[in-house]
Amino acid sequence: MATTAHDPVVHNEPYRIGDRIVTGAYVVDLLDQPPDLFVDHTTTNWRSLNWSKVGRPYKVEKWATEKKVYEKTHGEPLPVLEGWKKFNKNFDRYFTTDVPAAQKLARAELMQAIKKADVHGASEAVEEMFHLLVWNRIHRVEDAVWDPRGKRALFSGLNVKNPRILFLGAADGYEAMALAAMYPGGETVLVDYDDFCKTNRFGQFPLSYPFLGVDPASGHKRVWYRDQMNIEFEVEDIRNLKYGREFDIVVSIGLIEHFPDEHKGLAFEFHRRFVKPGGYVIITTPRDQLRSRAWYHVMADELNYGYRELMDVNQMGLYATENGFDVIRAGVIKAHNGLICKVRDTAAA
Ligand SMILES: C[S@@+](CC[C@H](N)C(=O)[O-])C[C@H]1O[C@@H](n2cnc3c(N)ncnc32)[C@H](O)[C@@H]1O
Repeated sequence: MATTAHDPVVHNEPYRIGDRIVTGAYVVDLLDQPPDLFVDHTTTNWRSLNWSKVGRPYKVEKWATEKKVYEKTHGEPLPVLEGWKKFNKNFDRYFTTDVPAAQKLARAELMQAIKKADVHGASEAVEEMFHLLVWNRIHRVEDAVWDPRGKRALFSGLNVKNPRILFLGAADGYEAMALAAMYPGGETVLVDYDDFCKTNRFGQFPLSYPFLGVDPASGHKRVWYRDQMNIEFEVEDIRNLKYGREFDIVVSIGLIEHFPDEHKGLAFEFHRRFVKPGGYVIITTPRDQLRSRAWYHVMADELNYGYRELMDVNQMGLYATENGFDVIRAGVIKAHNGLICKVRDTAAA
């Protein structure tokens, strides 16, 4: 995948509300319409759920070859942070690829290999073509990873003004930027202990990618870009953060499913620790659906370095309820389930 997508110059040609443009690397979606998929589960009676009703999450157990080799050679588990570093590097390669150009290159490499009767080269080229085909479908056809309209639907209706937003395990920071566009005027702190996220996944996030939000002065819709937002990136382990309960919104995207049940309480505690009384905790996790299982199967060598569950929205809501949160909004979007929660007021319960 040698072909890298170059970011066009941003503000010479700003996008407009209503645009939907497929670039080589991603989809610009400023459609001011409902999402392709948003199933609202807000009215679920969360306290009536129990584990025998909802079943347990699915565990992804197909591992990256590199992880297996490390563990065989060293006789111990791959350190968790090392696994995340590999995950982020590999995932970033896809986000920064100009897919049509990379597909053309892979086809040319296949033809070359066939001409030279190079079986190994041909099989590598075929594998590359298959991965690009899958990525193209997910990111450039369905826009299921970023899913801006789905996320806007999920994040809508928060009662916040100039919010301070904390993103735990931020990676590229996408969802915090979506929130900062919808609820502007505050400040956003991204936290990830993999420094590559600061320098590359967020640091090189396309300056020209537009987020649909509002203009705080007029209240009208407007388009925001990364460099117009007040964002700080802290490279730190969540466990070492020194903040108190000071954020209006604490968000994590794809974090709690990496904690097995004996540590789920700690994962929820991370969120509770930093949210203001009455503030919002937003949590999403990948959906347990056939296509997600297939994705983690196909991409195992590039993404599966650590513990991962796939769950449905009821399982997620039950975890939140058991761990002292009230679910005030819940929904299913293309690739994830999402919850908007508040810490339960035990005095009032
Ligand atoms: C599954 S990723 C989040 C998915 C993300 N939306 C993406 O596009 O890759 C989880 C992120 O959390 C970070 N992370 C995991 N545990 C952490 C910890 N204890 N402290 C800080 N960051 C952590 C990882 O480095 C990784 O970037």
